Amino acid sequence: MKSISHICCIGAGYVGGPTMSVIAQKCPHITVTVVDINEKRIAAWNDENFDNLPIYEPGLADVVKEARGRNLFFTTEVDAAIDKADMIFISVNTPTKTYGKGKGMAADLKYIELCARQIARVSTTDKIVVEKSTLPVRTAETLTSILHNTGNGVHFEILSNPEFLAEGTAVQDLLNPDRILIGGDNTPEGQEAKDALTSVYANWIDRDRILQTNVWSSELSKLTANAFLAQRVSSINSISELCEETGADVNEVARAIGTDSRVGSKFLKASVGFGGSCFQKDILNLVYIAKSYGLDKVADYWEQVIIMNDHQKKRFAEKMIASMYNTVAGKKIVLFGWAFKKDTNDTRESAAIYVTDYLLDEQAEIVVYDPKVKEEQIYADLDYLNTRSEEENRRLVTVVSSPEEATKDAHAVAVLTEWDEFTTYNWETIYNNMLKPAFLFDGRKILDSSAMKEIGFKHFAIGE
Ligand code: UDX
Ligand code: UDX
Ligand code: ADP
Repeated sequence: MKSISHICCIGAGYVGGPTMSVIAQKCPHITVTVVDINEKRIAAWNDENFDNLPIYEPGLADVVKEARGRNLFFTTEVDAAIDKADMIFISVNTPTKTYGKGKGMAADLKYIELCARQIARVSTTDKIVVEKSTLPVRTAETLTSILHNTGNGVHFEILSNPEFLAEGTAVQDLLNPDRILIGGDNTPEGQEAKDALTSVYANWIDRDRILQTNVWSSELSKLTANAFLAQRVSSINSISELCEETGADVNEVARAIGTDSRVGSKFLKASVGFGGSCFQKDILNLVYIAKSYGLDKVADYWEQVIIMNDHQKKRFAEKMIASMYNTVAGKKIVLFGWAFKKDTNDTRESAAIYVTDYLLDEQAEIVVYDPKVKEEQIYADLDYLNTRSEEENRRLVTVVSSPEEATKDAHAVAVLTEWDEFTTYNWETIYNNMLKPAFLFDGRKILDSSAMKEIGFKHFAIGE
């Protein structure tokens, strides 16, 4: 069997960075080189101060500390790393297209194609190329076509190895995954490549948790897994609205259905809406693929998950506005949390962005506190919406670092991310700071409702 001594990963982002750090930690005999064209990002990965790594993930700094400089390297020298590697992971971003055919739906594969062309141009020895980014089904075919037509006699074997880690628990998920999925051709060369990648993971993961499939099953499984997870959130969120009307409590409903082992208890937490770089993108991608095969009923079915999620974000903002006597113009509203979930500094598709956008339409004065997200990121997220000018975003939105102080003279506080620290605040002090009536909107249902009402808040929580 082919044994792997040099791995190169193209893309030092939320997927590539943590994944390669853990592979390097667990496989000291393999040299792992992570490359990126973004010099600032690579410099941050190489920073002496481990607090400055570009990605915040619990436990990640310790893994990088152990492996960096030993067998883990971060560099912008892409060509050299590609040439030296036996195995190349492609872990670049695949955002939803913002132009042309499939705009707003299909995944933009230009970064993937650029990578493939670069690999084809630079390689002088045989390589196993591993798709790590989430990609539309049949992307491997595109990669194969580009790589096999280079004419320089180098053999490439393409594998699909989707990532299932969730942000905030990336290191734990990588160390102890439910399963590893490896898709490849059923030819002898394909089998050899699948086995080579299996043996990398087998350094710390039981072989019975490493599943081998054909390429298409592997690619489709990734989209399907994310679609199912997102669907659970939209399903419980749809019930949360019904709970608010009927007097049922969504947490009680979630517990009651979750104890049925066929349903399962995880991923049933009602929220202001799911975010993150994957769910929406992957479902849109699934919808686009279904449509492209003429499967309109399939496409409509999955699209409903997104429609429900957009509705949830909007209705939360509308609830805030309606509660505050239908006007928030000039009112100070403090948002606790900007990241799309706790324990990450990632804000991609975060519900907070959209809730803020609605509130700004009504000319609210917004103050944001998030323990890990930087001010520049918050403004960048709002500017990216293109709803109003950059000056306006900076005039209407203030980012603060002391949460309790920020509530002075506020009309309302809204919890948009489930950071643990929010539950430990002195909510009595916060209440005393605020104008009365003091409104509290809990978009994550993490605060004790009766205690909040007891303090005096006009309190609203999702699904209650
Ligand atoms: C997801 C998948 O879980 C992971 O397997 C895949 O590799 C990438 O996409 P991630 O987006 O990092 O991971 O986080 P996840 O924990 O799945 O949360 C996604 C969003 O759903 C967050 O906004 C989260 O707050 C929300 N969510 C999740 C809920 O609102 N309720 C829940 O019960 C669970
Ligand atoms: C269902 C609920 O399971 C039960 O808890 C409730 O009290 C009554 O409704 P039942 O209708 O008897 O029970 O059978 P169930 O096993 O749930 O199957 C319902 C239908 O779904 C069947 O036609 C079954 O063939 C189908 N099914 C079930 C699938 O097609 N695929 C599956 O994976 C599971
Ligand atoms: P993900 O969440 O999928 O990891 P990120 O956006 O966090 O996505 O990371 C993807 C990384 O890939 C970015 O840092 C980007 O600069 C890098 N990248 C994109 N295209 C290339 C390329 N052709 N060569 C090297 N790096 C690339």
